[in-house]
Amino acid sequence: MSILNFGSVNIDHVYRVDHLVRPGETIASRDYQQFPGGKGYNQSIALARAGAPVRHAGRIGQDGRWLREALAAEGADVAFLEVVDKPSGHAIIQVDAAGENAILLFGGANRSITAGDAHGILAHFGPGDWLLLQNEISAMAEILTEAGQRRMRIVFNPAPMGDEVLAYPLDGVSIFLLNETEGEAFTGESAPPAILAGMRSRFPQATVVLTLGAEGAVYDDGGEQIYVAGRPVQAVDTTAAGDTFIGYFLAGISAGEAPRTALERANRAAAICVTRPGAAPSIPRLAEVG
Ligand code: RIB
Repeated sequence: MSILNFGSVNIDHVYRVDHLVRPGETIASRDYQQFPGGKGYNQSIALARAGAPVRHAGRIGQDGRWLREALAAEGADVAFLEVVDKPSGHAIIQVDAAGENAILLFGGANRSITAGDAHGILAHFGPGDWLLLQNEISAMAEILTEAGQRRMRIVFNPAPMGDEVLAYPLDGVSIFLLNETEGEAFTGESAPPAILAGMRSRFPQATVVLTLGAEGAVYDDGGEQIYVAGRPVQAVDTTAAGDTFIGYFLAGISAGEAPRTALERANRAAAICVTRPGAAPSIPRLAEVG
């Protein structure tokens, strides 16, 4: 059994601000730092720190070699993370006094992945292997289609959400991990029970895990529904909290853990993540999460 995460790698430029900049406004930031990030990268770090054997596929530029080395140092297999002659993806991230963020993305090398590249990588995987996807790379529809044909178990985090996601071939997805905004885009509903009902009716084959920010998360596999409450913490930076949750949850489920156990550990890991600055560096290790 392999876990392939086909996902983005970004350089995050993080600015601490008193409030998120408004249209037409210019404000000064109080601090600036650069961190490794990208939803795909963060989720691979979380998988690796949770003890899962993750293989990360994607693309970076020459400016991103340090990210590849850092991911490998965590124990992830980076043989499918290609260095190309394009700038790496990056994110401009504002973090306000309450730890909330606003993110502007530049896809860069993440968006140069072709259907041919994807085919070359997916050919190494087959039935029973896990595929984790977010929505920050190109060739998404082709990857979803081929992974389905190969009978991989597809775990999809539709972030960042866009209209194009609604047109992706999603019938082969085994697990959706999404927040309320993403759930609303799929179902037109805003209340968590209605989102879950809408997802169940639209994707009857799938397990859905709906994250509720500080309120916790709900798991629904059509037979069992499990709620875990959020943990009260002083948020410093919420960036990568969702990624931490996803990596830890998948690490548990893919290792055969009961959903409640995986959910509770993911919840603890995400709560630790928000107490620290940055994306990937804020993701805790298993020994700390317990
Ligand atoms: O989920 C957080 C991530 O979103 C950041 O690391 C940033 O790179 C964007 O991809």
